[in-house]
Amino acid sequence: MTSSTAQTDWWRSAVIYQVYPRSFADSNGDGLGDLPGITSRLPRLAELGIDAVWLSPFYTSPQKDAGYDVADYCDVDPIFGTLDDFDHLRAESAKLGLRLIVDLVPNHTSSAHPWFEAAVAAGPGSDERARYLFRDGKGANGELPPNNWQSNFGGPAWTRLTGTDGTPEQWYLHLFDTSQPDLDWTNPWVHEQFREILRFWLRRGVDGFRVDVAHGLVKKVGLPDYFPPPPSPDPHANDLARVDIPFWAQPGVHDIYRDWHRVLQEFGTDRILCAEAWVEPLTRLAEWVRPDEMEQTFNFTFLEAGWSAPSIRSSIVDSLAAFGAVGAPSTWVLSNHDVIRHASRFGLENPRAHRTGIGPRTEPRPDAALGLRRARAATLLMLALPGSAYLYQGEELGLPEVIDLPDGARQDPTFFRTNGANYGRDGCRVPIPWEAAAPAFGFSPSGKSWLPQPTEWAEFARDREERTEGSTLKLYRLALSTRARHDLGNGDLEWLDGYGDGVLAFRNGEVIVVANVGQAIAELPHGELVATSEPIIGSALPPDTTAWLVARD
Ligand code: NOJ
Repeated sequence: MTSSTAQTDWWRSAVIYQVYPRSFADSNGDGLGDLPGITSRLPRLAELGIDAVWLSPFYTSPQKDAGYDVADYCDVDPIFGTLDDFDHLRAESAKLGLRLIVDLVPNHTSSAHPWFEAAVAAGPGSDERARYLFRDGKGANGELPPNNWQSNFGGPAWTRLTGTDGTPEQWYLHLFDTSQPDLDWTNPWVHEQFREILRFWLRRGVDGFRVDVAHGLVKKVGLPDYFPPPPSPDPHANDLARVDIPFWAQPGVHDIYRDWHRVLQEFGTDRILCAEAWVEPLTRLAEWVRPDEMEQTFNFTFLEAGWSAPSIRSSIVDSLAAFGAVGAPSTWVLSNHDVIRHASRFGLENPRAHRTGIGPRTEPRPDAALGLRRARAATLLMLALPGSAYLYQGEELGLPEVIDLPDGARQDPTFFRTNGANYGRDGCRVPIPWEAAAPAFGFSPSGKSWLPQPTEWAEFARDREERTEGSTLKLYRLALSTRARHDLGNGDLEWLDGYGDGVLAFRNGEVIVVANVGQAIAELPHGELVATSEPIIGSALPPDTTAWLVARD
């Protein structure tokens, strides 16, 4: 392997495609996607023009949180296949020139993990309990939780154990579901286990890790109560610059990533860590990508900027400044398995009001046509930005969120922990359509699908979009090949003014990008039109449309 800068720094400009294994392709007909299914479809990803694939968890797990509840970090759950299937997937992706990133879930294990089972059995004060956050309860008989923290999925973040004789026992912390106990990262034993887990997958040839809840591993000493600021229309009310949240972004977390950085370097200089850290402001988030920590972090400020020119512009300006200040690339992302698909989010009147998902009782429903139009424009804007971009499976087809999932089909713990008040994330996790006329739209040979696919999805099927001029699939392919030809990921952004308030215009190398986020028609500059999110007549750029031009000078 050569050690040219371009090769070493592949991640600075890479387009990374998220595969959500249970919903990508099912090879054995059980209605749940699997590793052989992914391998069989890899050529389709290579021809899309991406650089790398990120696989959401496929490890041994009771699947209480779709695999983010891991019971064995070094094995494949039988529902997804075997370690041999993983090795085959890895080898085939390498043949196609695709890098492979896997998910690492270090904040919590599954309650079915042997470590947790041993901790429960060993009892208070044992070494086994010291791997997790067990505490005695408050109140005369320990009947109150140790503090007031709430689970991210709703309800208290503590659950009390019951001894084998029925006596109430200690409490354990779970920032997510009860089936996801938090590890105690003050314990050196935990550090040692994760170093070995990293090495296990690095030896198997993975190019990096997406690190789940990368802002949560270290909790404030003493586990103090937390009183969040009152609800506020100010989107920055919860900025960590203003509030100290005892379970997020505690400074000690960075020592872990410095340590992991060294572990990755045992395997060369081109393996990466990408943080899933919901941290604002961006200057604070940039701490995760200092030179001796991680290489990338997701940019949720951009994802949440909405359809507003000033807020998209400031998210881009602030991202480039904050990450640039520590020598890291920015990343960009619009969809993933935790948020409403952007083809629907951009059609919602008030997306911030629906962060916990949408469903049959949501009013008003997203405007599907407007949402898709804006989503295409947003993607074309995103793919012109310098840095690395993440795509979520199905967005290249323009897939909307599935709203009409029956309650009985839902599986997200958010739905259950809030007694159905919050719909959760199932609507963005429905298995994707490959062939319009095949059973389960080509997802599964048996026609089964773990979440029901809407019949209208025939029109989004990949084979149909292959044959349709102007389809979202064709737009993504054109954008990705043009991005690669002009090396936009490694470029520089220069803002161009004078296009009007609702318009974002910038130059990246030879390419001029004009995104009309406003209501009025905008005038395009001279140049050769190389990509547009909607058909354009002459030089008039309609609202909700992005165009790329190559300057003629
Ligand atoms: C973030 C993951 O993306 C999400 O799907 C999961 O539920 C939580 N972390 C807990 O692991």
